[in-house]
Amino acid sequence: MTGDDRSRFPEMSPDLGQTLFSAEQIQQRVNEMGAAISADYAGLNPVLVGVLKGVMPFLADLMRAITIPLEIDFMAITSYSSETRERGIVRIEKDLSVAIEGRHVIFVEDVIDTGLTLNYLLRALRTREPATLQVCTLFDKSVHRLIDIDVTYQGFDLPDRFVVGYGLDYREKYRNLPFVALLKPHIFGHA
Ligand code: IMP
Ligand code: MG
Repeated sequence: MTGDDRSRFPEMSPDLGQTLFSAEQIQQRVNEMGAAISADYAGLNPVLVGVLKGVMPFLADLMRAITIPLEIDFMAITSYSSETRERGIVRIEKDLSVAIEGRHVIFVEDVIDTGLTLNYLLRALRTREPATLQVCTLFDKSVHRLIDIDVTYQGFDLPDRFVVGYGLDYREKYRNLPFVALLKPHIFGHA
């Protein structure tokens, strides 16, 4: 049984279009990213920072693919309004619990879209004077970017389409699929 066997998810599979990335493809890429981070950060005891909730499966797999000591921490954010969200301004609902001053921080994202939210969060973290601050994302919709962001570790480039699975949701659903797939267009209408 592979992670991509859609018959395991009879209540969700009718909503799904094409599979873009299989569970095996994702796992292999995550392992490569973990190996790269292990080599680059040897001796530096990095802090992996993730934004809840979408990053959860990726961070869980990535940290286990990294072979050097590390710490993890989380932030949670909410939008004030759709208008502020469009400008990338968010409220930090849960802040980091570790002090990152002088630390080597890897900001881990599930997907970077416009980059506006990420840019806002990176600016907030930089004021705390980490030794280094790099970005690691599994998925990158680089064609959709509205603001330039340096991405050090990138898993896969995504087409400008809405996808679900492996942490990515539509209205909080589909995060638990182990693969990433397109959502059928009619689902957007009445979910
Ligand atoms: P942005 O980079 O500030 O535009 O925001 C990126 C956020 O939008 C991500 O953290 C996701 O929560 C969400 N997002 C963007 N594209 C997708 C997608 O294809 N599926 C699910 N969520 C997405
Ligand atoms: Mg996210």
